[in-house]
Amino acid sequence: MKAIFAFILLAGAGMAQAAPDGATIYNRCAACHTRTGAGVPGAYPPLGADFRALAAKPGGRRYLALAVIKGLNGPISVEGKPYRGMMPAQGGLDDMGVAAVLNHVGGTISKVGPAFKPFTDQEVAGYRAGAKALGSADVAKLHEGVGGK
Ligand code: HEC
Repeated sequence: MKAIFAFILLAGAGMAQAAPDGATIYNRCAACHTRTGAGVPGAYPPLGADFRALAAKPGGRRYLALAVIKGLNGPISVEGKPYRGMMPAQGGLDDMGVAAVLNHVGGTISKVGPAFKPFTDQEVAGYRAGAKALGSADVAKLHEGVGGK
């Protein structure tokens, strides 16, 4: 009896199309950027002060969304350390998923820098639509241009 009740509850939750959970999506980012977002110096940049500073500027917000959508192929310099890595495009995330994971990073993982203004799915959709011709190396070039450090 109990099992049947639980099944009905779960089926109902599935049909309600719950908004994507940024913390769950972040698990895949943590494989490289680590659980706390501290990263690995020289290999995987921290998601901290630079993230929040970028998220405070229009061009920086575009760069952050496109880094997730398109991937990133530097060189870039984050918090004074050089990175010449390759971040794969994070496939399978729709605009809501991209916004959710960026909001988890800006609101929970990154604890330093300016106040964080959440991303909306409409905002992410706009960046995605305007970047059809950009590849991961083009996205990396945006970093210095928008004052990433
Ligand atoms: C396979 C490893 C890997 C995964 C998974 C990964 N990243 Fe990255 N990420 C990197 C690397 C490497 C760089 C630096 C790229 C370079 O050197 O050009 C980077 C850079 C970034 C940057 C730029 C930071 C800055 O200050 O300019 C952001 C933002 C970012 N990642 C967010 C994410 C998010 C969010 C996820 C999960 C949805 C994610 N990454 C998943 C490896 C990864």
